[in-house]
Amino acid sequence: MQYQPVKGTHDIYGKEVLGMRYIETVLAAACELYNYKEIMLPTLEYTEVFSRGTGAGSDIVRKEMYTFLDKGNRSVTMRPEFTAGVMRSIISNKLYAGDLPLKLFYSGAAYRYERPQLGRYRQFHQFGIEQVGSDNARADAECVILAVSGLQMLGFQNVKVKINSLGDAETRANYREALVEYFKGHIDEMCSDCKERLELNPLRILDCKVEHDQEIAKGAPRIKDYLTEASEKRFYETLSIINAMGIEYELDENLVRGLDYYSEFVFEIHLTSPEGKDYGAVCGGGHYGGLLKELGGPDLAGVGFAMGVERLYSLMMENHLLDDIEEGLDLYVMPVGEKVLNDAFEITMACRSFGYSTDSPFQSMKFGTMFKKAEKLGAKYALIVGEEELENGVLKIKNIATQEQQEISLENLQEELHDIFGCEEEHHCHCHECECDCDCEECDCECGDEEHECHCHEEGCHCHHHDDE
Ligand code: HAM
Repeated sequence: MQYQPVKGTHDIYGKEVLGMRYIETVLAAACELYNYKEIMLPTLEYTEVFSRGTGAGSDIVRKEMYTFLDKGNRSVTMRPEFTAGVMRSIISNKLYAGDLPLKLFYSGAAYRYERPQLGRYRQFHQFGIEQVGSDNARADAECVILAVSGLQMLGFQNVKVKINSLGDAETRANYREALVEYFKGHIDEMCSDCKERLELNPLRILDCKVEHDQEIAKGAPRIKDYLTEASEKRFYETLSIINAMGIEYELDENLVRGLDYYSEFVFEIHLTSPEGKDYGAVCGGGHYGGLLKELGGPDLAGVGFAMGVERLYSLMMENHLLDDIEEGLDLYVMPVGEKVLNDAFEITMACRSFGYSTDSPFQSMKFGTMFKKAEKLGAKYALIVGEEELENGVLKIKNIATQEQQEISLENLQEELHDIFGCEEEHHCHCHECECDCDCEECDCECGDEEHECHCHEEGCHCHHHDDE
């Protein structure tokens, strides 16, 4: 029997690993610009964290959790989302006793027993943030601005933000009543999920994807007519800040989000591929009032979002935003003949210790086969190690792309490799005036900031240093 991955899960390897890592790195960099710190949480939580946190009325808790009894007979659940776990951690570690607001970001796998389809998995990855301890329209606005700027840093130009307000507790109680009154007259013709929703959370009926139900929902009362004065004021304050930042959005009164903890401001971000493929929302989030308190902590409000990393990856691939990412190797060391295998092995190790990604075959191979392999591995250079070369202490190094070959001294291997790779090294520099983030000698960037990224090549280096201008 040949085993397949569990339905709805998938193996991630090759370019997808690089792509997903890149996405996480860029989003983490965006978060750091906003002073968010990373938090790493267990995959498993006691089931109650989600049943009370994510909410007993949500589809996630009712139908989609991977829940089981551990050997100590305790009910545990593989996280279907991070927010409830972050709150649990804030309480367990008394993080609320420190500086507020807490600004945390996270990334990792989440699990939901959903029907797998395009962009929907049972194991998927989320990148998200939570900001706790500041109940403020500006905090809500910062959250959506950070989500948009993260997506822009990934290269997405047309980001479509949908926004709604679910109001405060009074708003929702009044609105709930109005919805129940309206849907009661139609519920017999609606889907079985909506029948359940009418009991548990009538707002979710507005989110139903069944066409006939959507038609009925069009005639339902509108939440904006039920917002209390305070909720309305807060909502328009948030919108005006988002407006002032030049972020385009549309108001979507049917956006209710599927988790129980939201109040006031909620949003989703949708992106489509050039071919018009819809992978679903790439980002969802909003404000929550009583979540921390519900889980036994102090009464502090929060706001956050999470993005689906697989969905982002698919869209970035389709929008050619990951074309430059490639698996590669600096050096492929080629031993010519059996006798030099050990020397080649040592040279390979030395190159690695100098910081170059290097590989080499464990047994002897034909020269042509090794070249093909070097090309296939995406090696920049082949380092040829033969008996004669070892005797003379001079190896040959060949640029795989240009086929140019030169000699390199074994004794000064590190220095000479440095000269050859020189400007090709990737440096980190964060000066914004300087597009080249290189600290190599050829490129005399004097911004003094060592931490920003440059991919300068010796020839055709087009860096614009402020001191050049
Ligand atoms: P969510 O809308 O359930 O929100 O999920 C956030 C994102 O995770 C979605 O927009 C989607 O991109 C991705 N996602 C969700 N389910 C799947 C799936 N089955 N397969 C692939 N991707 C998926 C939350 O999880 C909230 N905790 C967000 C939040 C944080 N709200 C406040 N703070």
